[in-house]
Amino acid sequence: MPSLTWLGHASWQLKTSQHTLLIDPFLDDSPTAPIKAKDVAADFILVSHGHFDHVADAAKIANRTGATVVSNYEITTWLAKNHGVKNTVGGNLGGAANLAFGRVKLTLAFHSSSLPDGSNGGNPCGFLLKLTSGESIYFACDTGLFGDMAHIGSGGLDVAVLPIGDLFTMGPDDALEAVKLLKPKKVIPSHYNTWPPIAQDANNWAERVRAQTKAEPVVVSPGQTITF
Ligand code: NI
Ligand code: MN
Repeated sequence: MPSLTWLGHASWQLKTSQHTLLIDPFLDDSPTAPIKAKDVAADFILVSHGHFDHVADAAKIANRTGATVVSNYEITTWLAKNHGVKNTVGGNLGGAANLAFGRVKLTLAFHSSSLPDGSNGGNPCGFLLKLTSGESIYFACDTGLFGDMAHIGSGGLDVAVLPIGDLFTMGPDDALEAVKLLKPKKVIPSHYNTWPPIAQDANNWAERVRAQTKAEPVVVSPGQTITF
């Protein structure tokens, strides 16, 4: 049974029976991360876009663990050339890769993606995962609401991880609309309560999800794990 642990902000650890995936690891400079980059395990690291709160610890962890970084081509090239990352899979929107844990598709995201040194970070993306064990998980990552979420959810989703922080991404109202389009079995809020500008009441949002959709909202604290 796969498990998902919130590492604070938009960072997640997904464990399958054989592999550990990190999504957007931002640990050492995060005020809410329960673990440091030097202590985290990884076989694969998924990076959704170039902003520091997503790419920050990717190279550090990849170079220590040998993990494969999956991202857009601009970011994997930047990580390889500027930070010595050895194992990368660089794609682009709409493309997918079959990897040891299953299949991962780079999905549309409405955001920006400049890298910390000002380099072009390509287009931001979300990730749609189909694990070898059968489960489907969608990480919207940093994005505004968009109608094609209905299409992303059309194959059935066991879990959707959605930003609710507002200001930089969808806020609670649009994230509620996203749940209605995606129709996941479970939905988990992300990208909030890291800093004051993205403070949100996740339990209040969860009540609205429960009242207005068929999805089961799951609110976790940093360091907490759920199975699905
Ligand atoms: Ni961002
Ligand atoms: Mn962000």
